[in-house]
Amino acid sequence: MTNLKHKRLELPDLPYKYDALEPVISKAIMTLHHTRHHLAYVTGVNAAMDKLEKARAGEGLEIDYKAVMRDFSFHMSGHKLHSIFWKNLRKSSKDNAPTGSLLEKINEQFGSFTAFQTEFAGAGKSVEGSGWVALIQDGDDLHIIQIQNHNLLSVLETKTLLVLDVWEHAYYLDYQNDRGKYVDAFWNIINWDDVAARLA
Ligand SMILES: [Fe+2]
Repeated sequence: MTNLKHKRLELPDLPYKYDALEPVISKAIMTLHHTRHHLAYVTGVNAAMDKLEKARAGEGLEIDYKAVMRDFSFHMSGHKLHSIFWKNLRKSSKDNAPTGSLLEKINEQFGSFTAFQTEFAGAGKSVEGSGWVALIQDGDDLHIIQIQNHNLLSVLETKTLLVLDVWEHAYYLDYQNDRGKYVDAFWNIINWDDVAARLA
């Protein structure tokens, strides 16, 4: 019956080829990560919307609201984070670093780029289980936070500038259990132009 219709999500294209981030992240990981893992979050949030719309339309479907709300938050957050993550990355280069007003802001807020790197890497390496480390903006301030799974420990009403996926699916094929090595290699592939553009 229904013209209740929330827009369904679609898997966004990557802004580069699957092998663009080698050797830091292999083509095999990027292909699986994008076409399987990210797609699963898109599919998951759409499935949650399907259930809610059927229930709203009175189609007799009894749904487990707690489970559906959990699915919606988990999958939607997973989709949002991956969509930012892909854009935060670019081809590897050795002297990759922020410049201009973004660098000034990092220096002002963290003392130095090195101090920022220490905190970001420390947070990323120590995320418990699956999750992310993120640089977020709250007004004039920048903060580094950990996110468990895709949606726990996160902070509402802030802007996300830079994220690093530390789920095993993001690095295991290339780095096995050495998350630290993956986090340290991440500095070479950050698209600082994208991060600077997000800084309001
Ligand atoms: Fe991921």
